[in-house]
Amino acid sequence: MPTTQVYPDPIAASNSLAVEVAALIRSRGPNDRPIVFGLATGTTPLPFYAELERLYRDENLSFKNVITFNLDEYLGLGPQDPQSYWHFMHESLFDHIDVPSAHINIPNGMTAPDDLERYCRSYEQAIQEVGGIDLQILGIGSNGHIGFNEPGAARDAHTLVVDLAEKTRTDNAAFFDADEEVPTRAITMGCGTILSAKRIALMAWGERKAAIVREALHGPVTNDLPASFLQEHPDTTFYLDTAAASLLP
Ligand code: PGA
Repeated sequence: MPTTQVYPDPIAASNSLAVEVAALIRSRGPNDRPIVFGLATGTTPLPFYAELERLYRDENLSFKNVITFNLDEYLGLGPQDPQSYWHFMHESLFDHIDVPSAHINIPNGMTAPDDLERYCRSYEQAIQEVGGIDLQILGIGSNGHIGFNEPGAARDAHTLVVDLAEKTRTDNAAFFDADEEVPTRAITMGCGTILSAKRIALMAWGERKAAIVREALHGPVTNDLPASFLQEHPDTTFYLDTAAASLLP
């Protein structure tokens, strides 16, 4: 069963998670196996990424021995597209820290249609080859998705191409000029990929997430709510602000 940590606000929660991340990075010497993080996009992790940037700038935290794998990317959007997660991650984090660009992995949204199956397998393989994900960072969709694993997702799926739920497309429409510009498909790590991470930290803020956080933690484990699979993960912590935790028993 996941543990929960509740903080007065998103900044306090993000700072606490950043302390854990910094300790993990510093626990490895420069010649040790790199530490591997799974990273998420969305508005939720922004204060967390801002704190990592501050730790790099003000407290000599180096990311040179870090490898990252992002959860997902819209299909059809390339790095130069301002709405792509490639762009989001560089703007919000990677451009401001010293992680080597060769250590950054984000699913390629411009993969040719006839190469997608092979590409998804290679993304999964790349995670295995570096020894798996040490810490996976997650947000939670208002429909309970993790990554882009929408309701109905299989528990054991590995990196795959998915159709986005209408709810997700509406939630994310604010980032696009027009609703119909929101892509309909994405590449995402599967629930199985996510659950293979040694440790998982899920962040959620605000009243808008309170009901889905309660269901994910205390409802039945079901593929109707992919985040509920985390109940079966041996080392997961939910980092919540008081509003997101307000409906917990
Ligand atoms: P949000 O999205 O951080 O923008 O709320 C979370 C998610 O969809 O995982």
